[in-house]
Parts: sequence; C-alpha cells; structure tokens
Amino acid sequence: MSPLVAPSILSADFANLAAEIKRAEDGLADWLHVDVMDGHFVPNLTIGPPVVKSIRANTRLPLDVHLMIENPDRYLNDFAEAGSNHLIVHAEACVHLQRTLSQIHRLGMKSGVALNPATPPDCLSYVIDDLDIVLVMSVNPGFGGQRFIPAVVSKIETIRSMLDKAGRSDVLISVDGGINVESGRLVTAAGANVLIAGNSVYSAPNISAAIKALRDLSATTSSV
Ligand code: DX5
Ligand code: ZN
Repeated sequence: MSPLVAPSILSADFANLAAEIKRAEDGLADWLHVDVMDGHFVPNLTIGPPVVKSIRANTRLPLDVHLMIENPDRYLNDFAEAGSNHLIVHAEACVHLQRTLSQIHRLGMKSGVALNPATPPDCLSYVIDDLDIVLVMSVNPGFGGQRFIPAVVSKIETIRSMLDKAGRSDVLISVDGGINVESGRLVTAAGANVLIAGNSVYSAPNISAAIKALRDLSATTSSV
C-alpha cells in the first residue's frame, strides 16, 4: 500500500498561505498537516484556532492538526469549531489521555496520540480502543527542517505489532520529522501509513513531484 502524504504547512510561506495550500492540493496531497505550538510544550510558537478556521475555508483536504501544547483539553472545542478533522495530542502533555481522546471523538474528530522520540510506546496499550492515529515523532518537536532520528524505526515496528495484536490494524501510523524519500522508505517498511513532510515538500522545486516521490517510494531503489 502506498503511504498517504501530508505536507506540513510549517515549512510554507505563511504570508501566502492560501497559495501554499493550493500548491499542496494541486500536488495531490492527501491531508494537510497543521502544527500548533505554544512556546511551552515546545520552544516555538505558531498558530491557533483562528488560523485553522481560515485554512479550513481555503481547502477541502482533511486537516491533521498536531497540538504541541500543554493542557490541550482546554482547546479541544476551539479546534473542533475551527474545522479540524484530526486532532493529535501529545501523550507527554496529557494527564488523562483516555478522557482527552474520548472527548475528541465526542466532538466529531478523529483522535490521535503523538509520541516524542524518547517516549516509549507502552502508554498506548490502554488507549488503543480510543485511537485512530498514532503520530510517531522522528525529530524532537518544535521546528521544521531537522534531521530524522533512525531509532524511531524500531518503535514504529513495535507499535504496528501492538496494533495488529489488539485487532486495530486499521489505526494509522503517521511519522513526522525529517521525512524525505530515504527516511520515508525506512518508516513505511516498518509499518507507517502516513508521511508528514514539511521541508522536503515545500522546499522542493516541484511540489507535485516531491509528493509523488514520497507516495511512490516503495517503487524506487534505496540509497540507504
Ligand atoms: C515539527 C513538526 C513537523 C514539521 C516537520 O515539530 O511537528 O510537522 O513541520 O517538518 P520537516 O518535515 O521539515 O522535518
Ligand atoms: Zn507536526
């Protein structure tokens, strides 16, 4: 199965966001990945619900909203009303993770848990029934353009096998950080279904070709 490709607008030109979203759409992106940062959970600040609402008005692509914020419970409703399709919270930021995931479902969105590179996958065991997406961070969150951390490949294999054993093979594993054709090939071979890519898509001379290269990577030969 070809992976889905979700360009991350963190690497787009924020002054021309509508045009940048259209470039991803025309390039046949599957989802649009939206990074929300609060300057506390991660050392960077980005956007909040008003901008997500404006993005919603400019695209029909599913919005995969990645909350890198403390106390995400406080904002679930706002991101639902802004038109998010998937709401991804960090396990490290949620004291009552199961409650947060069920609330995301109650608000009509798909729910996801993100894990930082050093976070073991065990915390997923008791919330598997409440999940639609596991987002594996392959860099420490906060910035685009960082280098892929290869240690996450075995974590993806572990999560895929946990999900299969629990009868939840339908749960998607997305991978975020330093994704290009080489790392994309490693993570899809390990069981990932969705490639989130900022820099490798938005800095490419031809965005459609960059998205296609990620989607078709199993058909190309490895240089790793
Ligand atoms: C990083 C963000 C990523 C980022 C990925 O904290 O969560 O979504 O945009 O960017 P690249 O693909 O450039 O590593
Ligand atoms: Zn992200």
